[in-house]
Amino acid sequence: MNWKIFILVLSITDNVVNNMERVEELKQKMHDAKLGGGLKRIERQHQKGKLTARERLQILLDPDSFVELDAFVVHQCTDFGIEKRKVLGDGVVTGYGTIDSRLVYVYSQDFTFIGGSLGEMHAKKICKVMDLALKMGAPIIGLNDSGGARIQEGVSSLNGYGEIFYRNVMASGAIPQIVIIMGPCAGGAVYSPALMDFIFMVNGTSNMFITGPNVIKTVTGEEITSEQLGGALTHAQISGVTSYIAENDEKCLEAVKKLLSYLPSNNLEEPPRITVNLNAEVLSDSELLNIIPTNPRKTYNMYNILNRVLDSNTFFEMYKLYAPNVVVGFARLNGRSIGVIANQPIVSAGCLDVNASDKIARFVRFCDAFNIPLLTFVDVPGYLPGIRQEHWGIIRHGAKVIYAYSEATVPKITVVLRKAYGGGYIAMCSKSLRADIVFAWPTAQISVMGPEGAVNIIFRKKIAEAEKPEEYRENRIKEFREKFANPYVSASKGFIDQVIDPRETRSHLIRALDALMSKRSIQPRPRIKHGNVPM
Ligand code: HXC
Repeated sequence: MNWKIFILVLSITDNVVNNMERVEELKQKMHDAKLGGGLKRIERQHQKGKLTARERLQILLDPDSFVELDAFVVHQCTDFGIEKRKVLGDGVVTGYGTIDSRLVYVYSQDFTFIGGSLGEMHAKKICKVMDLALKMGAPIIGLNDSGGARIQEGVSSLNGYGEIFYRNVMASGAIPQIVIIMGPCAGGAVYSPALMDFIFMVNGTSNMFITGPNVIKTVTGEEITSEQLGGALTHAQISGVTSYIAENDEKCLEAVKKLLSYLPSNNLEEPPRITVNLNAEVLSDSELLNIIPTNPRKTYNMYNILNRVLDSNTFFEMYKLYAPNVVVGFARLNGRSIGVIANQPIVSAGCLDVNASDKIARFVRFCDAFNIPLLTFVDVPGYLPGIRQEHWGIIRHGAKVIYAYSEATVPKITVVLRKAYGGGYIAMCSKSLRADIVFAWPTAQISVMGPEGAVNIIFRKKIAEAEKPEEYRENRIKEFREKFANPYVSASKGFIDQVIDPRETRSHLIRALDALMSKRSIQPRPRIKHGNVPM
């Protein structure tokens, strides 16, 4: 063999060996990165009933769709001996993938490495996927399981949180931001979830608080467990911080996928529509005729109406345990994604109180931001009276409902079922707040207040002077009910567009929604920087 050819063959073989070694090195590094904080800690994570950061992503995303970014990032901290503890990925797995074939960006904190705590590089990884999500117009989904700011990295950790918070605000209303709390979420770390659109929590293994039980005991002397202070149930029932709770990691991740099926990827897109076989769906439903009791003092369950009127099994409720006197959630109508808001007569007569007002307003604003039409079912005796409500600020909170409905430009359909009294009537997407179509059932009673209250005020003197005060009062109530407690006074003034047969509600709603899909805003608002929503 010519010596020149011999050298060429040798160098090619050498190159192949070198390149193979490099690929092996890459594989080893990926393997190390995937181990996070190590097998022992993965074991400990499983013992707590929690999945690891990567296992969670596997459930959330379509099979083989996950593309990891920044797997080899390590922290740059040199203090407190932490420089000796470096793990590829720095305690958070980030990247993109698909859910139902739609692009999403994700970050999943890895509790097995320094408790998933957030340092400078960990934060930079999260910020990178947030920036990409916003640029591409795709949802960002965070899976949180973290001890909070990495104490050893001090102010760099705090700056990292600040960078995330800023991005949360910039992305608000542009892309859906969903966070799942799957472990601890303490300190200022809670404010990124709080700035996002929906917080999901796993019951029993997640908690959120700005200071834990120990700090509270030191500062105020109060004693409480972590679960009572900031567990999933607490935030679902009492604080209203969380939108949805599930019994384990798997169910929580499945619920997030379901939520996404109702949402567009960004504010410039329409929500995905599915095909419904209308022939198989009940369009005229005789059961609806008798759901509302003839006795006005008797109550009924709003779910019975929602389940019969919306596409079958599509109602996906948010904030179910918080302010249950109103119901909000996503659903489909003839396959179209809609936001449903309803009073719930079996809880506090479906009145609007401080918490219910917050719940409705936030939900309406989300739907409006993401082109999701609003369907409102009204049976409201009004805003809840009482010293506590007044002192808690029912004026300020109640105003949010009016603000949210008024500024919403998506198609707005309202159905008045029974009571629509006073401020509650106006606030629940009345014609004056620019509902596009207002339907009423013949059972609707639209007035300034209920017949009993009205008669007590208008005829107070006459009742007192009457020979038989009770009889006189009852007669006046009957008279008032016949005259005002019906939909026809409102219909005669155009505040109601159509009084409909309750059995035909579904088909009326489908046709109304069809007709409203081309809605454009024809009344430009004055040029403003932004409105000043009552907060
Ligand atoms: C550094 C942390 C950490 C943190 C946990 N670790 N939190 N390291 N910074 N914030 C480490 C632990 O030292 C431990 O390290 C490992 O993570 C696992 O933690 P454990 O305590 O063993 O786990 P567990 O018993 O499950 O308890 C988890 C925990 C607890 C409840 C989260 O670790 C805890 O209370 N951490 C502090 C929570 C907190 O107060 N965070 C707020 C920080 S201030 P080893 O070496 O043993 O494996 C904040 C402000 C942000 O976040 C402000 C933003 C504006």
